[in-house]
Amino acid sequence: MSLASFLAELDALAAEAVKAFAAAMDAAALEAARVEYLGAKSGKLKDAQKGLGTVGKDDKPAAGKKFNEVKQAVEAAFAAAQERAGSGDAAVSSGPPFDPSQPGARPRLGHLHPLTQTIDELKDIMGRLGFSVAQGPEIEDERHNFEALNIPQAHPARDPLENFYLATAEKLGAGPMLLRSQTSTVQIRVMEAQRPPVRIISLGRVYRPDTADATHYPMFHQIEGLLVDKHVTMADLKSTLRLFAKSYFGGEVHIRFRPSFFPFTEPSVEVDMQWHDRWIEMGGAGMVDPNVLRAVGYDPDEVSGFAFGLGVERVCARRHHVTDIREFYRNDVRFLEQF
Ligand code: PHE
Repeated sequence: MSLASFLAELDALAAEAVKAFAAAMDAAALEAARVEYLGAKSGKLKDAQKGLGTVGKDDKPAAGKKFNEVKQAVEAAFAAAQERAGSGDAAVSSGPPFDPSQPGARPRLGHLHPLTQTIDELKDIMGRLGFSVAQGPEIEDERHNFEALNIPQAHPARDPLENFYLATAEKLGAGPMLLRSQTSTVQIRVMEAQRPPVRIISLGRVYRPDTADATHYPMFHQIEGLLVDKHVTMADLKSTLRLFAKSYFGGEVHIRFRPSFFPFTEPSVEVDMQWHDRWIEMGGAGMVDPNVLRAVGYDPDEVSGFAFGLGVERVCARRHHVTDIREFYRNDVRFLEQF
């Protein structure tokens, strides 16, 4: 090879390498370009070095000098590109330089689920009426879910097909356990733990093997209320529920009681609320049955009480005009965003 063509080849190679380093968009591309041109085994520069042996003897010093210059230039171009890429492993920035005076991109804020918002609001309203919040377990025994609530062994509500009994509890020999079917269990837990007067609410999940439809779901939420004191009457129950409804819905709200039956209240009623000209069934209520008071060691001749249990999904759906409670559990942001 003539000296002239060797020198021309080196110049072309140098230009090509500098261009490749500049075009590398990220650390991986830059590394690939490095291997292509500076690779110790089969890099293009290494290949070109072999040309040194083919130039004439007298041209060798000039050719060698040129080779070293080109090699240094290519190495410097690589180092510069690497610097641009930051520490060497960060991506080479391809976009415009960072402008700190630009307004920032606002992160999208989430918010509480509509049911959580409802629960918080109901706690607030009842708190203002003097009710404190009590809690109970979601896995219950039969005493708290049934027996102390005056629901005898043969009662249809205890049918295994109407409840989520836990097979593991049976196996452990711990006695039958089930996912609570109502928050009335918390009435018992609170009364077992304290003497009257009692003035609590309890909010939480309950479970029933219902088929999901627009108004049912196998898991839903209830708000339970319990007030036990001297001389508590049905009038106290009604005025409490009316205040509750007025505070939550606002404006013209009416309350209606329809005769009903629950083993743990006597008399028992269904509670309907009317808002915007529509009646809707909110849940059950009544005066605490003397048998329940006796089951927790209270004296029915001394104290009386009222209790209610309302569906949180129903209350929330009514206020926000939600027509299918399954929406609350679909986790579709287009639905959830509206609250
Ligand atoms: N526990 C009843 C139910 O789930 C509701 C209720 C609560 C009724 C308190 C009366 C008193 O249907």
